[in-house]
Amino acid sequence: MGTFPDGFLWGAATSAHQVEGGNDRNDWWDWEAIPGSIVDGSRSGDACGWWAGRAEADLSMAAALGQNAHRLGVEWSRLEPEEDRFDVAAFERYAAILDHVRSLGMASMVTLHHFTLPRWAAAKGGWTWPGMAARLGRFAEECGRRLGDRVGLWVTINEPSVLALGGYATRMWPPGRASPAAYLASLRAMLRGHVAAVQGLRRSSPGRPIGIVLNAPWFVPARPDHPGDRAAAWLQDWSVTGAIVHALDTGMLVPPLWPLPLEVVGLKRSFDFLGLNFYGRFDVRFDPGAPRTGFMRHVQPATIRSDRVDWGQPSPEGLTAQLVRLSALGVPLYVTEHGVRDAGDDLRPTVLKDGVRAVAEAIRQGADVRGYFHWSLVDNFEWAEGWSSRFGLVEVDPVTQVRSPRPSAEIYATICRGNGEGV
Ligand code: FCB
Repeated sequence: MGTFPDGFLWGAATSAHQVEGGNDRNDWWDWEAIPGSIVDGSRSGDACGWWAGRAEADLSMAAALGQNAHRLGVEWSRLEPEEDRFDVAAFERYAAILDHVRSLGMASMVTLHHFTLPRWAAAKGGWTWPGMAARLGRFAEECGRRLGDRVGLWVTINEPSVLALGGYATRMWPPGRASPAAYLASLRAMLRGHVAAVQGLRRSSPGRPIGIVLNAPWFVPARPDHPGDRAAAWLQDWSVTGAIVHALDTGMLVPPLWPLPLEVVGLKRSFDFLGLNFYGRFDVRFDPGAPRTGFMRHVQPATIRSDRVDWGQPSPEGLTAQLVRLSALGVPLYVTEHGVRDAGDDLRPTVLKDGVRAVAEAIRQGADVRGYFHWSLVDNFEWAEGWSSRFGLVEVDPVTQVRSPRPSAEIYATICRGNGEGV
C-alpha cells in the first residue's frame, strides 16, 4: 500500500447556492440584488444549472475524471421554504441527485449549512436570533430522516468563522452587520447550531459520520524572530482557528469567543470527523500604526487575491501543518476544500499537486486523513466575487453553460486514478 489508504476519497466540492441556480428564497438572493454587494455586479442567477438538471451531467463528468466522491450542499431555503414547512418535491430532487452520485460509485459528503439562510430565518436576525440553533437542529433532523440513507458523511456547518467574519463582523456578506458583538454572538450560536444539528442527525440518521468544516489559514510571523510579529501571528491564529478548535475539543468558549470561560453544552468532541478548508498562508507583521486591523498587516508576497479578497499564499507546508494540528483531536480528517482562484489555470496544476503531496506528508506524520476534495469541480458563483473569481477544475460559461475542462482536471484525474501515488 502507498501513502494514501485504500478507500481514500478523491473528489471535488461544491455548495448548493453556488451551483444550483434559482435559489430565490434565501438571504443571498436578496443580497445580490443590492448594488455594490457583488464585485462584478453579477448574480447567482441560474448558477451552474444544477437544480434545473445539470447536476447529473457534471457529477458524471467528475466520475469520468476519476473522482470517487463529491462534497455537495443542500439548500435550506428550498427544503424548508417557510418555517416548519418542508418541501417534499425539493427533498425528492436531492434524493435523485444523491442516487445519481451513488449510481456512479461515488461517495457523498453533504453540507447542511454553507453560508446561506432561508429568507424567513434571515428576517428574524439570522445567527443573532436566539432560535436559530434549534432551527438548524430541526432542519438537520428532517434531512437525516428523508435523505439519510443516501448520504455518506454529514457536515453540519461550513466555516463558522468565515461566515461570522463576512456577515456579522463586516459588511461583505449578508446580513452585513459589521458589529463585533454580532460577530461573537453569531459564532457562539453557530457552535450551538452545530450541536443541535448533530443531535438531530443522530436521532434520524444514526450511524452516519457527522463533522464540521473549519477554515484554518496558516498565520506565520513575517519575521520569525520578531516578538511583535510572533505575538500578532499567534493572536490571529487563536482568534480564527485556535479558540474554535479549543471549543470543539473541550466544549468551552474562552476569550475572544467569550469574556469568561463558558460551556456550550454538548459541544465537547461532538463530531466524528473534522473537515479542513485550506487556501493559504499569511505572513503577519506587527504594525503599531494599524489600529484598525488589530495592529497587524499581512505582508506575504505573491498572494492569491482579488481587489477585495485575499486567499493568502498557496502553502503546502501550511496544509500539512494544519492537518497535523487537527489530528491531535483524534478523529479522521478530510480536506474538504483546497484550491485556487485561477481562470487561466496557470497556478492550479502546481497548487493541486503540491496540495496532494502536502496531504501525503501529513499522513506520513501520523494524521488520519481519509479524503481530499478540491474546490471546486466547476466554476461557480463565488459569493461577493460573483463570477469574477474562478476556482473550477472545469471552466463554466454562466451564459451558455458550456463546460471546458481545464488542464488541471486531467492532472487531477491521474492523481485520483492512481490513488495519489506518483504525484
Ligand atoms: C470557501 C468557501 C467556498 C468558496 C471557497 C473559495 O471559504 O467555503 O464556498 O467560496 O472559499
